[in-house]
Order: sequence, then structure tokens, then C-alpha cells
Amino acid sequence: MEPSKVFIGVAWPYANSAIHLGHVAGSLLPPDIFSRYHKMRGDRVLMVSGSDQHGTPVTVRADKEGSSPLQVAERYHQVNKKAIEDLGIEFSLFTKTHTDNHARVVQEIFTDLLQKGHLEQRETMQYFCPACNKFLPDRYVEGRCIKCGNENSRSDQCDRCGATFEVGEIADPTCITCRNRPEMRETRHYFFKLTDFEAALLSYVQGSKHWRSNVQLFTQNWLESGLKDRAITRDMSWGVPVPLPDSEGKVIYVWFDAVIGYLSASKEWAKSTGNEDAWKEFWTDPQVKGYYFLGKDNIPFHTIIWPSILMGNGGLNLPYDVPANEFLTFKGEKLSKSKGPSIDIPSALELFDADQLRYYLSSNMPEGKDSDFSWEDFETKVNNELVATLGNYFHRVLSFTHKNFKEVPPMVDGLEAEAEQVNKAIAAAMAEVEANISACQFKKGLKAVMELAQFGNRFFDSCAPWSLLRSDRAKCGGVLHLNMRTVQALAVMAFPYLPFSTQRLWGFLANDGVLGEGSWELIGKELNVGRALPEPKPLYRKVEIQREGSAFSRFEDLDLRVGLIESVCDHPNADKLMVLNVNIGRPIQLVAGLRSFYSKEELTGKKVVVITNLQAAKLRGVESQGMVLAAEAGDKVKVLTPSGPAKPGDRVNSGLASGSKVLTFQEFQSFTLRTGTVLNDQEADLGRKVRADTSGLVKGSQAAFFLPQEGSDVALPLFTEGRTSIGVDGDLDNGAKVR
Ligand code: MF3
Ligand code: ZN
Repeated sequence: MEPSKVFIGVAWPYANSAIHLGHVAGSLLPPDIFSRYHKMRGDRVLMVSGSDQHGTPVTVRADKEGSSPLQVAERYHQVNKKAIEDLGIEFSLFTKTHTDNHARVVQEIFTDLLQKGHLEQRETMQYFCPACNKFLPDRYVEGRCIKCGNENSRSDQCDRCGATFEVGEIADPTCITCRNRPEMRETRHYFFKLTDFEAALLSYVQGSKHWRSNVQLFTQNWLESGLKDRAITRDMSWGVPVPLPDSEGKVIYVWFDAVIGYLSASKEWAKSTGNEDAWKEFWTDPQVKGYYFLGKDNIPFHTIIWPSILMGNGGLNLPYDVPANEFLTFKGEKLSKSKGPSIDIPSALELFDADQLRYYLSSNMPEGKDSDFSWEDFETKVNNELVATLGNYFHRVLSFTHKNFKEVPPMVDGLEAEAEQVNKAIAAAMAEVEANISACQFKKGLKAVMELAQFGNRFFDSCAPWSLLRSDRAKCGGVLHLNMRTVQALAVMAFPYLPFSTQRLWGFLANDGVLGEGSWELIGKELNVGRALPEPKPLYRKVEIQREGSAFSRFEDLDLRVGLIESVCDHPNADKLMVLNVNIGRPIQLVAGLRSFYSKEELTGKKVVVITNLQAAKLRGVESQGMVLAAEAGDKVKVLTPSGPAKPGDRVNSGLASGSKVLTFQEFQSFTLRTGTVLNDQEADLGRKVRADTSGLVKGSQAAFFLPQEGSDVALPLFTEGRTSIGVDGDLDNGAKVR
């Protein structure tokens, strides 16, 4: 095959959170495999992306944190750039949208489209919140999706079904800041006349029969349901300013801004090479194919909006292929920061090797349909496939050869049939891998690699080198030679998927240099016969997942409920005790030692957390049918209380089952509950730092946690079945014990 040039664009992750496993499986890892492969074939690749720093995704996050959009955008740019490097995703350039270069390119295109008549200023209606006194673009309004019924859809796009909306389309809009219904106000915005490109888009899409069927279908449907002109400016100050005198307080819409990043990043890359025009080779030569990797919610922006911008601008290559992936889901739900467990890359890389993650995500890529992620499946695939098949084959061959020969043994006569078998297996695997990676079928490509490893294991067994070692040492060396050739072929073929470990493997084979550009032909390279072999080390570690579910399973023995204190009186015979009438969905009577800490008035009407499956007891003659949970630090005692909406009787089960067996007071005393401060999405301060899935909890707030045992470094935040977290009724030192 002739070497060629390939342009690869990768969807720009929003700089409002750390990238997670979904980004990697969906849009980051596929292009890395693709580009590594092309570079190995000798092709020239330009692969760009960066942080999508503008728009409401970033400003909403900044509002929540009480920081500035710039701070948020820069922080997550650094976090994500590092995570991407640590995962071995190799870009020609991974930049960001908040740069002068990018703003200039966006403004140039804006001006050009305006001059060509593809942009038009129009009076339009926009959500406006009278309570907040501001316009509410995009994510500042949520409502019900008119396509799929999702109750929490954003006003610009539904996260669940991918539908995109114009202002006014979603049902029951509310302001995300104050939860009021916004009104409509008139404003002026620039519209991109998509309708100008209707015919051109139709023939473009019809000429793209090589697209994945999901991409074809989605785009066809969009076109058939009729193109609408789209507002591409917004009333806000964070973003690329509209380059016109009458447009103060308006910026360019984040999506219009971001897709242009593919071009601005190419220009920035060109400058960095010392040849300002180098980008043109990849954008104006019609022979160059442009591939864009993204998740399915990004499809219309890459198959309709971006091509229309390019057509309007003229002279630059349209996307050739847009191999969009479906979603990686967790228990059927799309992986995201707000729901489910936080599986962000920086944390995942603290626990696992990049190649372990790359292996699992490659083998479980959501190509064609959603695929479900679970830590159990991760453990199974890594241990049974990566370690037990691939790693095991490598290690058997290398350690046996190293131990018994110390150097690369030569081939010998009389093994023609075996050599033929090996050559055939390598050639077949190579053809499969080539065909599948070129067609962006990465899962299948990896399968072909693994099949060669399975062949290798069988072949090694059938050669029985351990018995040849005594009977015919030269022949033993010969079969090891053949096995080493198989290992070498695997190292090269697996490199796009597992770049870190295969590079080490390359060294264990007594080879020099690094795998990368032009390396594909090394699949059949002669071994360095006679060279000393370095001592091989196992390349892959087994994974042992700490099962939080089971760590927390004891918590399921508690039946905790939200209780509303309806009335309070003093205990007739004890001056520290009070008698409370509490509604936990049904009325119960409790005796509590709160008299030194709360007045009757303070307690009446308060919502508390009650343990209800405690053996009823008489305390100084008055029956108590449970216990109010309170935390104690120093001489302060505060009751636990829901920090948001909760009804009497709501379970406080943190998403787990609730027990019904009756506990004695001693048994209850053996549970560890403590209060602490939420540090971020995955850590809390309980007097010391612990890991806890605190996504959705307010940073800096106090909350109650269950610990599997004292001293454990994981904790379970308490929340109700309605996901209201349980906080503390006042300030207490971190680590206060609940009793
Ligand atoms: N930031 C967008 C997302 O995460 C993707 C932008 S892709 C680009 O969904 F091409 F517009 F940059
Ligand atoms: Zn509001």
C-alpha cells in the first residue's frame, strides 16, 4: 500500500470535569489505535483535539463552585491533558479553545460566512429568568424532552436520546438556578442558514455509503425531518466574542466555536512545526481522508453542522468518515459525572495500568451498540484474557527461553511443518488486524490478536519444549525460535492497543529501538539470533477489584428512616432524657438523651434519621421503639438531618437494601457511622481522608458516612432513596461519631 496522509479529529472533551471511561471507550481510544496503526504503516497522520472550554457546560460548573469559568476551564484542561497523556493517547496536538489562535480562526470563519450571506441577524425569542435577571442559554434551562420524555433534558440537547432543540421546544422549562419558569424575551442573534446547504448535504450523505449505519441513519433522519436555521450566538460573556461592533455581551455558540477547533488546532500545530502552511497538506489535498471520532450524541454536529460550515467556507476537505460510537453504560445508564459511580481517568490510573484499561475498553468498545461497563467484567476480562492468554503466552516463551538458553536460539532444519503453521497463523492474524483496524472495527482487530495468542499457547504446548530440552536441545531451541517469532508478531500487532507493555516486550525479545512509525513490517522481522536475552518480567498484573458493594453489605442490616418529630416532652423520671413522638410513615415513640443539647422547641418539626429495627426497650419506664441518630464531638451533640427534600418514612439506604431483622443495642453499637466534610466527588474528610462516592453532594458540606469498619479507607455516604444526602444539624468536627 502507498503511504498516505490521514487527518484525525477527536471530539473535544468539555473542560468542566475529568474525562471518564466513557470518553476513552467512546472517542479517545479508537482514534489512538487507528493513528498508531497508520503511523506504523508509514502513513503521515495529523491527529488533533483539545479541551472544549467555552459555553454553558463550563459556566454552569463555575457557578456551582463559586469560581470563574476561566479557572474551571484551565483546571480541567490540565487534568484532562495529563490523563490523556498517561493513557498513552498520542495527539499531534491536544490544545484548548480559549486561545487567541482559536478565537481568530473562529472569527474569520464567522466573518467569511456572514459576507457570503450564510449568516443572518434575526429578532428571536430567548429564555429569560426574571428572578435571576438574565438570559438563560442552553444548559441554564432544563425541561422534558419532547422526543423521549426524559424529565431532565437540557434545553439544547437531550442527554438520553440525543435530540437537539431550538429555544422554546422542550416542555416545562425551568431555570436551573432558581427553579422558576423562565419567560420569553426578545433578543437579536445571528443564525446560520443551514437551509442553504440542504441539497449539498443530501448528496454528501448519499455519497457516504461507507459510514456506519447508525451514523448514516441518524443523519438521514435529520435531513429528512427538515433542516432548520440555527442561532449561533448567545447572550453571555464567556466564549469567543462576536466580531462585530453591535454585538456587545454576545458570544459565538459553543458548538459552532468547538467544531472549528479542528481547523484552528491544525493551524496551531503547523506553526509549532515551523511551517505555517503545513496544515494545508491535510485540509486541501482531496486525497487526504479525514476521520472524526466521537460519541453518538455528537453525530449531527459532525455530519451536518461542521460539513455545512466547511461547504460555506469552501475549499477544505469534508469529513470522510465519522465512526461514532454508542455509549458505554453502567447498569444500563449512560456513564456521566452526575450519575452512577465516578469512574474518572485520573482515579482509574491510580489503581490500574494504562494497558489494563486500554485492553478492557478495546475489548468492550461500544461499536454498533451500547456496551455495559462493570468492575466485575473488567476484572474477568483482564485476568482471564490479558493476563491468562496474552501475558501467559509471552511469559511462558520468554522465561523458558531465557532460563534454558540465555540468548535467542537459532532455527534448525526439520521444523518446516511447524514453521509453516506459524507463518500461516501470523499471516492470517495480520490480514485480519489490518482489515479491521482500517475499517475502524477495533474490537474485531483485537480479537484477531487474541486468537493469535491462543494459537501461540496451543502451539507452545504441542511443541512440548520441556521434553525436547533433554532429548534434542537444538530442536528445542528451534521451536522456541518459532514461538519467539509469534511473540514478536504479537508485540507489533498489539502495539496500537497496548503500547506500553508491547514496547517492554520488544526489549525482552532482544530487539532495539522503539515501536512506532514504520514498525508494521517488523511483524515478520528476523530474530536477533545469538543475542543475550534480558530477564523477562510478567507484563500484566492481575486485577482484584475491591467490591464496595460487599464492603458495604453490613450497612444493609440497618433500617434507617427519615422521621419527623411531631411533639416532644420531658421524660418523667430522667433529667437527661426526652420522649419524642416521631412520624416515620407511621407514628412511633422514642426516648432520646438530647435534653442537654436541644430544647423541645428546637426539636419539634425537625426531620431526623431514626433506626427503626432496634429491639424496643424501656428506658426508665418509658418505651422507646428506636433511636434518633446523633453525632457527638467534644461536648457537642447534633442530630443527623436530611440536607434536602425528604418525607417521613423515606429509607436512608444509600441505594442498598434495608434490613428487617431486629438488632440488639449491642449489635447496633458495632456499626461505625461518622460525620465528615465532602472534599470532592470521591473523597471526604472524616478526620482523615477517605474514598467515598460523593458525586452529587455539595463540596464543603457536612455529611454522615457508614464505614465497613473503623479505620477503613472507604466510606459510604448516607442518602435517602430520593438521593437526598444526610447532613448534620449544625457544625461538628470531622470524624464525629454517630450513636
Ligand atoms: N465538548 C463536546 C462534548 O463533550 C464535544 C465537542 S466536539 C467538537 O460532547 F468537535 F465540537 F469539538
Ligand atoms: Zn432563575
